[in-house]
Amino acid sequence: MSIFVTLEGPEGSGKSTQARYLRNDLQARGCSVILTREPGGTSIGEKIRGVLLDIGNSEISPVTEALLYLASRSQLVEEVLRPALSSKDVVICDRYADSTLAYQGFGHGLNLDELRAVNFLATGGLEPDLTFCLDLPVETGLQRRRRALESLLQNGRQGEPEDGVEWNRLDAKEVEFHRRVRMGYLELAALNPERWVVVDALLPEQDLRGQIREIVLRRLKRESTMRS
Ligand code: TYD
Repeated sequence: MSIFVTLEGPEGSGKSTQARYLRNDLQARGCSVILTREPGGTSIGEKIRGVLLDIGNSEISPVTEALLYLASRSQLVEEVLRPALSSKDVVICDRYADSTLAYQGFGHGLNLDELRAVNFLATGGLEPDLTFCLDLPVETGLQRRRRALESLLQNGRQGEPEDGVEWNRLDAKEVEFHRRVRMGYLELAALNPERWVVVDALLPEQDLRGQIREIVLRRLKRESTMRS
């Protein structure tokens, strides 16, 4: 028995931190857990991530960008997610197919049905059981990210993927783009309330941590009683 949990949200929502807390909290309760992320998570995917987040690649077209995210996703599904879903209790992914709908679809205006079709191709139809949307006002998220980046630069370090604050091309886009992304997430969540849980990313970090953990533990309990 395994459940597949994804974390989604606009820039600066604290997803990556919460994903790590969730992994640690579940492991502390004896669950076997794997945490991975998109774009990346495999050696091919990390190379694709490098291309996507390279600030120099500003000429990339929205379709090229979408296909690169999808290529990374396809590799992750085959190499990491499917095997993990047959051996672990919980598989956590920091961003997944909904990011493409929110950013490339709602953000850049690519056709949502076409994106759903290519998402299906990339994932073979693998959908999360539970998706958290860490929601917050766009300005706050962008400010958080900028502050984190400034302190990183002041310390004279290059961006480190683990920190989730690396300099990335998408941060240079205007607030309007990020507003569409946020609204897109809320629309996706409203369309499928069975799978989505929208949580308040402005909550103190430890409160949010507890909230996410309890929801996942409840779901695990429900799944195990249903399957036994
Ligand atoms: P990352 O540094 O992981 O940002 P975050 O910490 O916010 O997750 O960079 C991932 C960026 O890629 C982020 O701006 C969202 C974007 N993205 C897409 O536009 N489409 C996608 O399908 C995915 C997976 C990510």
